[in-house]
Amino acid sequence: MIIGLGVGTNLTKATKDGNNVIVFPSLVVYGEEKDWSLKGETKKVYIGEEAMVVSQTMENVEVLRPLHEGRVMHQSYIEIARYAVDKLKGKAEVIATGLPVKSSKKEREDVSNSLRKALNCEVILLPQPVGSLIHMGKKTGVCVDIGFGTTDVVVLFDMEYLKGDTMLVGVDDIYSSLELFIRNEFGISITPEEMAKLLLDGKEVGRIRGGKRIVVRREDVMQSYEEIVKGWVDRVASRVKMLLEGLSTSIVENLVLTGGGSLLPMV
Ligand SMILES: Nc1ncnc2c1ncn2[C@@H]1O[C@H](COP(=O)(O)OP(=O)(O)OP(=O)(O)O)[C@@H](O)[C@H]1O
Ligand SMILES: [Mg+2]
Repeated sequence: MIIGLGVGTNLTKATKDGNNVIVFPSLVVYGEEKDWSLKGETKKVYIGEEAMVVSQTMENVEVLRPLHEGRVMHQSYIEIARYAVDKLKGKAEVIATGLPVKSSKKEREDVSNSLRKALNCEVILLPQPVGSLIHMGKKTGVCVDIGFGTTDVVVLFDMEYLKGDTMLVGVDDIYSSLELFIRNEFGISITPEEMAKLLLDGKEVGRIRGGKRIVVRREDVMQSYEEIVKGWVDRVASRVKMLLEGLSTSIVENLVLTGGGSLLPMV
């Protein structure tokens, strides 16, 4: 079985057929044993949704994310990969995965070798946005992957890497500016997950504060969001334009936008 695995700063995506994709938070928590356990659980590693709950409710736990600002935090990457393969049920013969374009050679070797050993399978490691181009059947083109922590760009010609970049701008910059606005206006903090649901599905965010119910709705934040996104898109677009300067139009005509950021309103 071949597994496609995308370990992101915020979300891990994995699939065995290219269509059904499992998605879970890229979180690993090493916790202490619980005072009580009703299910007789003794494990000390929590991953994904479970890690999120544990990190919000237990004290003294270390929360790890496998990627931070485009750098690989090694062991948690392996834990996440193992968990994704387990969730997909089946034996992984090959894992095809990606790292940020500007990851170091050493990071790539480390991830490749330890994945191979830990999961006992072959590993294909690509610059992150390449998977989207392959999925779309494009051998030549440009892919801009707007992620949570980084925006990665690759330029391919006939399935060969021409150039690329990892920019330290991502959806998190939009969210933290908007978070600041919400904190000033409403006096509450909201998580990136709540932010995504608020912007994408219009799901309101509620909190009890001082015995009162505070609600943030999509229409309360849209004006501020639009201002933030405009500036942010200008910054990303000018960096991408610089990278594409001088390239043949036949390459640039095949431009693909991917990553969760490409789904946000106005992007
Ligand atoms: N359909 C969607 N499902 C989940 N998240 C979405 C969706 N659309 C937009 N988003 C937002 O896009 C963000 C970035 O998602 P993405 O999975 O591309 O980042 P990542 O791969 O974790 O980060 P990076 O590529 O920087 O390592 C998410 O955190 C979420 O807020
Ligand atoms: Mg990503």
